[in-house]
Amino acid sequence: MTSSEKHEEFDVVSPASAAGFTPGQAQDLGDRVNNRSQRPTSEAFKDFMASSWAPAEPVQHERDEVATHAAARRSAVSAQFPNERLVIPAGPHKVRSNDTDYRFRPHSAFAHLSGLGVDHEPGAVLVFEPVDEGTGDHGSRHEVTLYFKPMAGRDTQEFYADARHGEFWIGPRPGLEEFSQRLGLRTADSGALEVAVTKEAGPVEFGGTRIRLLREVDLDVDALVDTSRINTTVDLETSDAYDGELAEALSELRLVKDAWEIAQMRVSVEATIAGFHDVVAALPRAADHARGERIVEGAFFARARLEGNDLGYDTIAAAGNNATVLHWIRNHGAVRRGDLLLLDAGVEADSLYTADITRTLPVTGEFSPTQRKIYDAVLAAADAAFAVVRPGIRFRDVHTAAVRVLAEHLDDWGLLPVSLEEALDESGQHHRRWMPHGTSHHLGLDVHDCAQAKRELYLDGVLEPGMVFTIEPGLYFKNEDLAAPAEFRGIGIRIEDDVLVTEDGAESLSASLPRTAQEIESWMRGIWNS
Ligand code: GLY
Ligand code: MN
Ligand code: MN
Repeated sequence: MTSSEKHEEFDVVSPASAAGFTPGQAQDLGDRVNNRSQRPTSEAFKDFMASSWAPAEPVQHERDEVATHAAARRSAVSAQFPNERLVIPAGPHKVRSNDTDYRFRPHSAFAHLSGLGVDHEPGAVLVFEPVDEGTGDHGSRHEVTLYFKPMAGRDTQEFYADARHGEFWIGPRPGLEEFSQRLGLRTADSGALEVAVTKEAGPVEFGGTRIRLLREVDLDVDALVDTSRINTTVDLETSDAYDGELAEALSELRLVKDAWEIAQMRVSVEATIAGFHDVVAALPRAADHARGERIVEGAFFARARLEGNDLGYDTIAAAGNNATVLHWIRNHGAVRRGDLLLLDAGVEADSLYTADITRTLPVTGEFSPTQRKIYDAVLAAADAAFAVVRPGIRFRDVHTAAVRVLAEHLDDWGLLPVSLEEALDESGQHHRRWMPHGTSHHLGLDVHDCAQAKRELYLDGVLEPGMVFTIEPGLYFKNEDLAAPAEFRGIGIRIEDDVLVTEDGAESLSASLPRTAQEIESWMRGIWNS
C-alpha cells in the first residue's frame, strides 16, 4: 500500500479494527493507524451520516483575472513542444510526521501554468495533449486538461471519514465545474488520468506519442510515465533528457514576468513591508525575552498569514553574531540591546508570489559608529548595483558592481591581505571572505526563481524588462574571525531589495521600506512613539 493510499483510508474504520483486535493475532502495521478510532461502524450511523444534508447550490463562477495570463503561458509552452504530451503535476500532500501533512502548496510550475494559488490542488496534474496545428486551445498545438480529485458528495463515506479529502474534515474544495469556469480550462476527474497520460505512448518513429514529464514532483505520476516507457526503444538517458528539457523550459518561461505577475509581486512586497513594521513594533518585547528572535519571527509570520498565504521561505531573524550565519533560521537567540537584528523575510501572497527583503536594524533604534560604518559600506554596494540595472546588461554585472564597492571598503579598512586589484582578480577574490553569497537571484513564485534555467539565460543572461530579482549585498564578520578587527566581530549586515527591470532602467519594488541608516532610525523612532 502506498502512503497516499494509506492516507486515503486514514480514519476510515477498517473491518479488522471494527471487529476488534484479537490478542495473539497479527495486525497489519498499516491498519494500526485506526487503532485510536472510535467512529461508529453501524449501518444506522452510516445511513444517517449520508442523509439530510442540504444539496450544494450550483454557482456560476467568475473567470479569475489570472486565467488569460495563464493561458498565454500555456500557449508559449505548447509552441516549444508540438506533437508531444506534456505532464505537469501539482504534487501530492507532503507528510510532516506520521499522519499529519504540511499545508499543501502546489509546485510553482504547475501554479504558473494553471493560475492556481493557495492550497490548490493536491494530486492535480495538467496534461497538454498534442493536436494538429491551429486546432488547440487559443490556436495552440495542445488541448490542456486539469485532472484532479473532485470533492465527493455529502452522501459518501469520504465526506465524513476521509481526513485528507472529506469536506467534514477539511472544508469544501472546488469542483470540476468551478475550476473550469474560473480558469478557462478543461477539467476532468483524476480517475481518467492514467489513460490520459499513457495512451499511445511510444517512440515517435513508430507512430507513438512522446511524453515529457516534470519529474520528481509526484512520484505516482513518475511511476505512471515510467511504466508507459518500459518496452519502448527510448532509453532512460534519452527520456531523462526529454524531461530535463521540459523542466528547463518551464523555469525559463518565468524569467520575464507578465503584468499580472508583477502586480502580484507588488502585493507580496507591500505585505512584507507591513511585516517589517510589525517587527519593529515588537522589538522592545523581543529585547526583553531570552528567545527574542522567536518574537521577531512570530510577529512577521502573523502578518504573512494575515495578508498572504504563508512565508515565501523560513524567516531569518538573526541578532548579533547570528546575523553572520547566512541562513540562520533556528531563530532561538536573544535580541540584545546594542546589537543589530538582521531580518530577512518575505510574505508569499495567495497567488504564491513571494517577496524577499532584508533590513538590518539596531535593536536600540540607533546604530553605533562602527555598525553604521559597515552599514554604509553595504548600502553603497547596493546603490552601485542598482545604478547599473537596465535592459541589455548582463545579470552577472549587478554582482560585479556590488562586490567591487565592498572590496574597496575592505581595502580602505586595511582588511585585504593583497592589493585591491589582486583581490578583484579572479585568481584572488579575498574580499569574498566577508560576502560569500551572490548579490542577486531571480524572484517570483519561488524565492530562488527560475532555478533550472540555463546558465546563459541566468548568470550570463541579458536583462530584459519584466525581470524581477533581488539586490542583496552584505558583510559578515564572525565572532571568531581573526582576520577582522575586534570591533567588527559579531556584526552581520545585509540590505536586500526586490527590483523590477523596466524599459529604461529599474524600479525598486521595496523602495518604500526605509533603507539608509538615518531613515531606519527615524522610522523605528516613529513606530515606537506612535
Ligand atoms: N532569503 C534567502 C535569500 O535572500 O536568498
Ligand atoms: Mn534573496
Ligand atoms: Mn533574503
